[in-house]
Amino acid sequence: MMDSQLFVSSRDDTAGAAAAAALYQQHFGASPRGVWAAPGRVNLIGEHVDYAAGVCLPFALTQSTFAAMDLRDDNRISLVSLVPGGSEPVEYSIDLSQIGPGEPANWAGYAAGAIWAAVEAGLMPARGLNIALVSDVPLGAGLSSSAALECSVAVGAVELATGKTVDPATRRALIPCCIRAENEVVGASTGGLDQTISLLGQPGAALAIDYADNSTVQVPADFAGHGLAIVVMNTNAPHSLADGQYASRRGVIDAVTEALGAPLRKIADAPEQAAAWAAEHVPAATDRDDYVAMVRRRVTHVVSEIDRTKRAIAQLRAQDFAAFGQSMQASHVSLRDDYEVSCAELDSAQEAAMAAGALGARMTGGGFGGSAIALVAVDKVESLCRAVADAAAQAGLATPEFLVAVPSAGARRVK
Ligand code: GLA
Repeated sequence: MMDSQLFVSSRDDTAGAAAAAALYQQHFGASPRGVWAAPGRVNLIGEHVDYAAGVCLPFALTQSTFAAMDLRDDNRISLVSLVPGGSEPVEYSIDLSQIGPGEPANWAGYAAGAIWAAVEAGLMPARGLNIALVSDVPLGAGLSSSAALECSVAVGAVELATGKTVDPATRRALIPCCIRAENEVVGASTGGLDQTISLLGQPGAALAIDYADNSTVQVPADFAGHGLAIVVMNTNAPHSLADGQYASRRGVIDAVTEALGAPLRKIADAPEQAAAWAAEHVPAATDRDDYVAMVRRRVTHVVSEIDRTKRAIAQLRAQDFAAFGQSMQASHVSLRDDYEVSCAELDSAQEAAMAAGALGARMTGGGFGGSAIALVAVDKVESLCRAVADAAAQAGLATPEFLVAVPSAGARRVK
């Protein structure tokens, strides 16, 4: 029996749809036309490579954002949202004509921006919408609450405004729309991993995404069938520096890729070539050796992580979970030492999980706080969580929360 204190609670589709519909009724004084849901995600491996033409292996969580929606007679997007753990709903309203790059740059931009981009892409006519949101994806936990928001609203808006269920081609076409909401409207320079899995996730599978050509393959991921679980360890670490740090990592990789003229994975000695380039491009007031070494480490992470992820996909297909765990472990070390996106809280969770018998453990998502994941035998889940919580307490770190992540469905209509 799991200790409910340790674990984040979450609703199934019926309960989530009912909660969103109740918020809609309370705020807009009518029943919604329908309710759509889209999940958060964990990335099993393939971190900080989606913006570098790399390979990623995420799966969709059960934990979802639920959007109760209907069309309006005018061109306004009217939003009300109850965030996880929040007691008072927050509201935002904007005319469709006002949405665009940088506007609105707050939480509403993820939803409004996805609608704006879908209209721009010709996937739906410009229509106003009432939207009531509830979510079980913890905010700031590195589990893609923003993609869950974008994707639930995008699918709902297109289905309502066109009167048709989104077909597979439209679903794929919504991926760049949701990325535009994030990159252009809110202004976060993230890659496309989160939006891709939130739209394309399937129960029982992880999604191998190759950003060299945007191809995707569903890879069976039946952890429970092998007596295993993926435990998400949300460190609850505050990560106020996250945006600038993420952009700075991406900035280095973008600059090197442009200078070398090809995706880093296509260049046999990419770390050496990157170091040679860096030596000629040391920014002002920067130590030359430090800068060159830093660029070399960043590129080393990207190329090693892409290789590792390709191998990990084969290991998962072969159900070689011991080897898969070792790949997870190596990924964490690379993110910690070469890419330098981990932090004390993530390292503590990762080390305590390994000491508690995990086959592998690593940070997941952007880093600098957020969540780590562990692959562990089902009968060790609870003791692992206790060990991770104890380690955090002993180090004076925030109290972590846990959930057992089950590969689940992507964006869908739930009512
Ligand atoms: C965040 C971004 C993704 C990806 C990961 C790191 O989640 O939104 O695009 O870059 O970080 O793998």
